[in-house]
Order: sequence, then structure tokens, then C-alpha cells
Amino acid sequence: MSAPGSENVVLVGFMGSGKSSVGRLVARTLQGRFVDTDRLVVELAGREITEIFATEGEAFFRQQESRALKSLRGQGGLVIATGGGIVTVPKNVTMLKELGLVVWLSASEEIIWDRVSRNQKRPLLHTPDPRSTVRELLGKRNPLYEQAADLQVDTTHLTHADVAELICKQVKAWPGRK
Ligand code: S3P
Repeated sequence: MSAPGSENVVLVGFMGSGKSSVGRLVARTLQGRFVDTDRLVVELAGREITEIFATEGEAFFRQQESRALKSLRGQGGLVIATGGGIVTVPKNVTMLKELGLVVWLSASEEIIWDRVSRNQKRPLLHTPDPRSTVRELLGKRNPLYEQAADLQVDTTHLTHADVAELICKQVKAWPGRK
């Protein structure tokens, strides 16, 4: 998929759904270039995500996320992992769809919690009751992922390698693939 202009693969889903790990594997198999919008935001802003949230707040972070997506327009052969909240801004959803095939990595609430509770790098979960925050955010966001996505892969019982393999198969069979 390395030819410029060919369709990209865009991974959306909640924190802890495995977008970056799976994205790297998919990029390797499809010989695409892996891009992570969180990393792009950090590069554009010159600061880490926790610092951006602490000093500028979430709204500023969302603006930077939109900028990061915009910077990818017109490029092909990418496998793009996105931040879990990217779908909360409607214009981002439009850009995601324009960029390529949107794949939602879903997972059960229990598995998500199990994965995200292992690290403290996610500012939105720095709340008095992060478990409830996960439940609330999932409730709000799952319908948004569903609307944005062309495909859904339930990752609850799968390894990253399994998920990547499934995605690669689907991408290769996708009718709109250039
Ligand atoms: C966020 C998810 C994070 C990162 C930021 C906000 C969110 O990315 O973009 O902390 O709103 O869900 P991951 O989904 O890669 O953890």
C-alpha cells in the first residue's frame, strides 16, 4: 500500500484498545508508514500530552489533534493510530473518513479498564474515580466510534497480532481499495 494516494488505514477506539501496537503491526504487513496522532500532537506542540492537558487544557489538545489530522491530508500509504477522543470533534470524523478506511478497535469495559489502569499517562483518567470515568466516557464515545467506522474489530479476546491479521485481511479484500 505504499503508493502515495492509495487509501490509508485509520484506527479509532478507546484508550487501551491497542491502536498503536496494532497499527505498527498492520503497517509492517501492508508495507505502509505508521503514524500516531498523539505523537504528531507532541511534535507540533513541542510538549508531552500530560503537559498540554495540564497547562492548556483539553480544548487546546483537541485543536492540536485537528491540526495533526489536517497535516496528513493528501498522503497515502499510511496506517494512522488516533487518540481515543479524536471522534468527539465532528470535523475530525469528516477528516478521518476522508483519510481512508476507518477501523474501530472495540473492547469490553472490563478489558479496557484492565489495560488502562496499568499506566498513569492518560490525563483524562486522573479523576477521583477513574473506573467510573472509563464507564462514562465509553458510554458517550462508543456510538461515535460506531458512526465513524467502516469496520469494527472486537479486540476483547484477541492478541494484537490477531487483530492486526484480521485488519490486514479485511483491508486487502476492501472493495474501495486502490
Ligand atoms: C485521549 C486518549 C489518548 C490521548 C489523550 C486523550 C482521550 O490517546 O490522545 O490522553 O481523550 O481518550 P490513547 O487513546 O492513545 O490513549
